[in-house]
Amino acid sequence: MTAPTVSESVHIELAERSYDITIGAGLLDHADAWSSLPRAHAALIVTNSTVAPLYAKRLQEALASQYACVHTVVLPDGEGYKNWQTLNLIFDALLGHGCDRKTVLFALGGGVVGDMTGFAAASYMRGVPFVQVPTTLLAQVDSSVGGKTAINHPLGKNMIGAFYQPERVVCDLDTLKTLPARELSAGLGEVIKYGPIADMAFLDWIESNLSELQAREPQALAHAVKRSCEIKAWVVGQDERETGLRAILNFGHTFGHAIEAGLGYGAWLHGEAVGCGMVMAVHLSQRLGGVDGAFVQRLTALIAAAGLPVRAPMLDATDNAARYLELMRIDKKSEGGEIRFVLLDGPGRALVRAAPDALVREVIDACCA
Ligand code: NAD
Ligand code: GLY
Repeated sequence: MTAPTVSESVHIELAERSYDITIGAGLLDHADAWSSLPRAHAALIVTNSTVAPLYAKRLQEALASQYACVHTVVLPDGEGYKNWQTLNLIFDALLGHGCDRKTVLFALGGGVVGDMTGFAAASYMRGVPFVQVPTTLLAQVDSSVGGKTAINHPLGKNMIGAFYQPERVVCDLDTLKTLPARELSAGLGEVIKYGPIADMAFLDWIESNLSELQAREPQALAHAVKRSCEIKAWVVGQDERETGLRAILNFGHTFGHAIEAGLGYGAWLHGEAVGCGMVMAVHLSQRLGGVDGAFVQRLTALIAAAGLPVRAPMLDATDNAARYLELMRIDKKSEGGEIRFVLLDGPGRALVRAAPDALVREVIDACCA
């Protein structure tokens, strides 16, 4: 066993629910990454049909020194499977193996596996511990951190779920080597998000290091994951259950979720929808006086350079804007049927507010292909 390279750590401070995110190359095989976890007889690795052949055996071997039984359940791969039927496969495995209430779940995969495993952990026997082992860039910089867990409903994304924090997050940067380029771009969408909402110096850094990130240089990836997690830790530490500030992490998501639901889950990747949603949100911010046209162009250019779509899809041939508005009213931030957007109140500053339908329609018309 060699020492992991580029090992970093970020702490999430949430009183008795605090935990660490470990970031490094080679962590999957490194004993330190798996020491001092909750003690139990059994562990269950939850993964999917793409990730299992790549990494499940290595995680199983690493965990064998900690748990007498290490079981694995392999889910079908895809956002379209983030539903009750697939969630039930995790419960089938837990009950089928006679897993008790101390059993530790390990989510090995991207955000879909992480969100479903977290929700299963929150509800199995009213709560068992779980560990996030994210293997996509998107999951390492966002979904594995902060305790949001969920499945989709045909009428809305992530509508059924729970806040439930993991015991630990282990980000092995080496797993990103096998990630398809389109998925890497989707993850860059969530990395870029942190700049305009909270840290313009980070936005500068992403612009300067985009080609290194696209080339998957370990130092660049380590910094992007670490800084993203630091910003997310800072936000979640103040507002774990999204009573206010945490909503800023949804910059681009109101438009993005409408795109995902309107096209059917899986047609566009979540990070692609968020990237395009950020373009729409920055246009709306400009119309409300938060940022100028130069900033709109700057952010749009970066999102395009990251390989993400910047033209929004048509969701309805008859009244496209009405369809967007209808879908956005189902968003979790909506209150009394009023859509609330995360918008920019200046570069590096975000707020949550409603906007006149007429302005939103203008943005949809301007941004749709
Ligand atoms: P994903 O989980 O579908 O993974 C993307 C694809 O990459 C899948 O086909 C997967 O099998 C594959 N894959 C994963 N790791 C791989 C690897 N190392 N090598 C090769 N292939 C690999 O998608 P995602 O982008 O990771 O996550 C998107 C999901 O995360 C959405 O459901 C979204 O709602 C959710 N999300 C949740 C939060 C949160 O706070 N909980 C935040 C953002 C997004
Ligand atoms: N991805 C948004 C959040 O975790 O709040």
